[in-house]
This record gives sequence, C-alpha cells and structure tokens, in this order.
Amino acid sequence: MGKIIITLDGFSSCGKSTLARQLANELNYVFIDSGAMYRAITLYFLRHRIDWNHQVEVLNALKNITLDFQYNAETGKSDMYLNHEDVEVLIREMPVSDNVSAVSTVKEVREFAVAQQQLMGNKKGIVMDGRDIGTTVFPHAELKIFVVADPAIRVERRYKEMFEKNPVITIEEVKNNLESRDYIDSHREVSPLRKAEDAIELDNSNLTREEQLEIVLKWANEKINISR
Ligand code: DC
Repeated sequence: MGKIIITLDGFSSCGKSTLARQLANELNYVFIDSGAMYRAITLYFLRHRIDWNHQVEVLNALKNITLDFQYNAETGKSDMYLNHEDVEVLIREMPVSDNVSAVSTVKEVREFAVAQQQLMGNKKGIVMDGRDIGTTVFPHAELKIFVVADPAIRVERRYKEMFEKNPVITIEEVKNNLESRDYIDSHREVSPLRKAEDAIELDNSNLTREEQLEIVLKWANEKINISR
C-alpha cells in the first residue's frame, strides 16, 4: 500500500500533537512533533546563554546541537533527545515555553530544523505536526490538515496539562503565554503560521478525541487509496 505524508498545522494547544500521534498509531506511520525540536534548540540556547539575535553565535551553537527522537516504552511515546540527553520533560516547562516562539523566528534556526524534518519524510509514512509543515516543510504532502479550536477552550486544555506538572501555575500565565505565542508564530517573517491553500480545516472545539480521530482517519484513508 502506498504511504503518504500527513501534515497538521495550527496554533498552540489545539490538540494537534495528540491527534497526530493517534493518527500515526492507527496507520502505523511515524509521528514527529516538530515543536519539540524548536523547544530543544531553545533549551540549549537558554542553558548556554546564546544570544539568538546574533547570527554568528546562533550558527556556532547549532553546530553543537544533535536532535533525535527515541521511543520511551514506559510512556509509549517518543521522547526528544538533545545531544543524547532526554529533555522531554524540561522542554515543556515555562522557561522554554516563554522563549520558544522568539527562537523560532530566527531564520538559521528554522533552516536547521526544516532540513532535518524534510529528511525524516524521505520515505513517507509520516505524520508531522507544527506551524509550517504543510506550507514550507512538505508543500507537496498528500494530506494537509489545519487544526483550529476556540481560544478559551485552548487555554483550558493547556492549563489542565500544565497544572498536572506545575500546580502553582495560574490560568492568566497560561493565557498570556498562548496569546503571545499565537501572535509571534503568525506574524514572524520566515514561514509564519498560516493555513496552506490546499489544507482541510478541522475545528475540534466540540469534538472528543475519538470523534476527531474518526474524521481524520477517513480523510487519510481516502488519500492513501488514491495514492496506491
Ligand atoms: O507545538 P509546540 O507548542 O510545542 O511548539 C512550540 C513552538 O515552536 C511554537 O510556539 C512555535 C514553534 N514552532 C514553529 O515555529 N514551527 C513548527 N513547525 C513547530 C513549532
């Protein structure tokens, strides 16, 4: 059976990663969370006090960064590794969340991440989620999905997720972080977040995980059947 490339783009906390992971599981495809790569680069920059507005510093730092995903049998998910260290938990914390959108505006950072993402799609059979996957990384993907959800619902989802790890977090902090990331992600100069012309929009504000999976599985199977 022919394998295809599936992209899921959208604002932060729209549930893209959960959906992309479930879809990849159902199809026996590889799931790649491209945001985790930008988060790991941000963690490296913060740890090494890299000034990301300084091109030479950025280019030198990127030479020392190796990113890869490794399967974690305990969680059943792939963890992000930065220079062979499992940073899956650290990259979800507030210091990284507060800076990742700014780091992601840097042209050299994007070129570094996009080149690796494109290699991962060489053999197809991949579901990748992010902001520019359908527009820049895989402009010829067979199925492009643009996920949207009501902003208040996104804040609530993100708050629940963050509260489990950090019970002192406030809903205001979560809301401010999401709003500022939305703004930066959609207004940056290099590959801003936007819906690809040939993407299908999925509004999951009032859908359960099972319902949204059923919808996208149907879309995916239609495309897979055509590509055979
Ligand atoms: O999906 P996420 O919230 O973990 O992504 C974190 C940040 O990474 C997001 O605010 C913008 C950036 N990002 C990006 O610029 N391009 C991508 N393809 C994925 C993420």
